[in-house]
Amino acid sequence: MKLLEDDLFQERMQEKVVEIEEMIKGFLPIEMTEQKTIFAAMEYSLMAGGKRLRPMLLQESYGLFGGKEKEAVQAFMAAIEMIHTYSLVHDDLPAMDNDDYRRGKETTHRVFGEDMGILAGDALLNFAYETAIGGIGKSEKKEAAVQALAILAKKAGIFGMVGGQAVDVEQTGKTLTKGQLDFIYRLKTGALLEASLMAGAALAGAGQEVIQELEEIGKNVGMAFQIQDDILDLTSTTEELGKPVLSDEKNEKTTYVSLYGMEKAKHAVEEYSNKALELLAGLPAESAYLNTLILKLIHRTK
Ligand code: IPE
Ligand code: IPE
Ligand code: MG
Ligand code: MG
Ligand code: MG
Repeated sequence: MKLLEDDLFQERMQEKVVEIEEMIKGFLPIEMTEQKTIFAAMEYSLMAGGKRLRPMLLQESYGLFGGKEKEAVQAFMAAIEMIHTYSLVHDDLPAMDNDDYRRGKETTHRVFGEDMGILAGDALLNFAYETAIGGIGKSEKKEAAVQALAILAKKAGIFGMVGGQAVDVEQTGKTLTKGQLDFIYRLKTGALLEASLMAGAALAGAGQEVIQELEEIGKNVGMAFQIQDDILDLTSTTEELGKPVLSDEKNEKTTYVSLYGMEKAKHAVEEYSNKALELLAGLPAESAYLNTLILKLIHRTK
């Protein structure tokens, strides 16, 4: 398996994050009209930072399957980051995890009020679709682009992220079985990571079989990612993470760590990541950057 050397990988990743942020900013509606506060709240949450992992995965997957339409893929990259950001804005609301920091800044509802926090999330979700539909307009491969949109929509909704969050909040304070916990992680976190890899490939015109393999890869990345998120909630600091630590304990969440202990949780992150890498190696195309990115997620510190 091709991998990038550490310094080169870090350099590439930083370049990509800068490019992605500039690109996303270009899609934002910022106008001094009557609804200027919601524009400000959308921009605040979206441009606050973050790893930009989902647009990065979408871009890599698109390139892996020969995609060449820059404007179309950028619209989908921006769309998935808008959906992800909306999920964070709502996840932090008082009615949900009630957290005050996100991406190193005060949460959107703390700055703009709870009403505007709810609306900013709604606005980001809707604007994600407006943006992705614009991407369909830019693509020569209309059918492929519509399929990419269908993937985004499904994985964001009740069969994806929203479905997972619904079970997560419902089960708060209760002890969960492994099956229930896996269900929650697969959906609340896995779904948007799956969508990133799948939609990138779909947009490039890849076939069903490949898209299904990417779903499986995304699922494994998602499990590893959420378990590591649980670990960091206990072992990191608010400064490093940019969001409050011990949020799970505060909210009486069952996590991989509370259910299995730290060592087993760490082991599970490695296992799921290795499974993802193994499946990645079986794809008909290879990207050293993508391989390295998924490998590095195992020991991520934020
Ligand atoms: C946070 O996602 C929510 C989870 C799914 C654990 P990220 O850790 O990707 O958050 P940002 O985008 O970097 O802020
Ligand atoms: C949330 O999981 C995943 C989402 C869909 C937002 P968490 O509640 O653990 O995410 P963080 O730790 O607040 O980022
Ligand atoms: Mg939550
Ligand atoms: Mg949370
Ligand atoms: Mg968390």
